[in-house]
Amino acid sequence: MEHAREPSPISTVRCGESLAALAGSADNLFETRLTRGARSASAVPTPDSLTQDPHLIASPGEALNVMEFEPVARKNLPPAHYGYLATGVDDDGTIRANREGFTKFQLRARRLVDVSHLDASVQLFGTTWETPIVLAPTSGQKAFHPTGELGVARAARAKRHLQLLSTLTSAPVEAVIEARGEPVWYQLYPTSDWNVTRSIVRRVEAAGCPVLVLTVDLRGATNRETLSKSRRVDTRRCADCHTDGIAFPGNVRKRPMFDSLDLARAVGIFPPLSLTPDYLKRLKDTTSMKLVVKGIVTAEDTTAALEQGVDGIIVSNHGGRAEDSGRSTIESLGEVLEAVRGRVPVLVDGGFRRGTDILKAMALGASAICIGRPYLWGLAAFGQAGVEAVLEILRRELQIIMRQVGMPTLAGITEKRVVDRPK
Ligand SMILES: Cc1cc2nc3c(=O)[nH]c(=O)nc-3n(C[C@H](O)[C@H](O)[C@H](O)COP(=O)(O)O)c2cc1C
Repeated sequence: MEHAREPSPISTVRCGESLAALAGSADNLFETRLTRGARSASAVPTPDSLTQDPHLIASPGEALNVMEFEPVARKNLPPAHYGYLATGVDDDGTIRANREGFTKFQLRARRLVDVSHLDASVQLFGTTWETPIVLAPTSGQKAFHPTGELGVARAARAKRHLQLLSTLTSAPVEAVIEARGEPVWYQLYPTSDWNVTRSIVRRVEAAGCPVLVLTVDLRGATNRETLSKSRRVDTRRCADCHTDGIAFPGNVRKRPMFDSLDLARAVGIFPPLSLTPDYLKRLKDTTSMKLVVKGIVTAEDTTAALEQGVDGIIVSNHGGRAEDSGRSTIESLGEVLEAVRGRVPVLVDGGFRRGTDILKAMALGASAICIGRPYLWGLAAFGQAGVEAVLEILRRELQIIMRQVGMPTLAGITEKRVVDRPK
């Protein structure tokens, strides 16, 4: 297992190894330097790719659905970078569960409703967004395309979507905001050193981020076997990006959000193993930004977080990359919503690939949904244009299903529009 591995000496570092050993193989592995060329793509099995049509689209406009970007991403990327994108934990069961969860709900279609005008807009903290489709924070996007987070930001700008930026971004927050044309929400992995965490919080607040998203999943090591398998077939030497480190992982140290910070006492970047609700209060007291907690899947944690004054929740299992619970986020949403009782916005991510998935979540009561891998497939396949196309396809599918089931608006859904699939 990855977390048991010793850091490799720099001279023998292979793609993705060094930091995984130190940080429990989380979302912090890759930086720039895509090496394109011949590689054994078929050696990286993933749940998503098993169902793909072998036809490879040649341009974003050809895509029939967002899944069609995945095999192109797979072809373009070095195996270990692709493995990093695709991986779940253990047998990737929770990735599959996230998808299968949607089939446990059915939409009740109403016909005698005027659907000549659609309004898919949602409000989050007083800002109106044209659609509920949000870009989830994902780390090191230059591992997928040289434009990385800036390409994604330009796509989000062109299509007017909310973008969440990872602590492990490969571009500085200030540059991403400039490319986006307005502030992004900032996702925080707290380091083990409060001074470092506070400095980052102050920096993103000064940059204008209105919302801080604290990720609380990834408690310790994760067993990302698909990633490990992809490394076996990736023979490149990647010491340029994947330097190892002792006190603080080398390639995290190189990330722009850690520039010029004293990391001498920071030994880890993921949520401290000792994290309890009072950490949320401490963070909240440190900033005037709204505080949203990402990674919640139960009513108990929701209640505990709300007691500390958090302003929003993201129901998430890290896209099946944290624990192999086998429980989908769409099935976890209900208990979180019940605990929230409308007091704060509740977003949800994990396995959203179709307009119907989005509509089910919204009809159940979500405030918005986030996507992770789909836009990374678009990015890896065609850069900014690929991300734009992914967003466009999901918007289009959402509109189609809104019409088909007679839901012209997503705001204030009071009728029961989703039922459980009969057992
Ligand atoms: C390659 C990759 C990197 C990710 N990096 C982060 C991260 O840095 N911070 C975080 O909170 N979540 C991270 N996530 C999780 C996403 O924010 C999101 O929860 C997940 O991707 C949603 O599931 P989906 O990929 O099925 O859409 C990452 C996910 C992927 C696939």
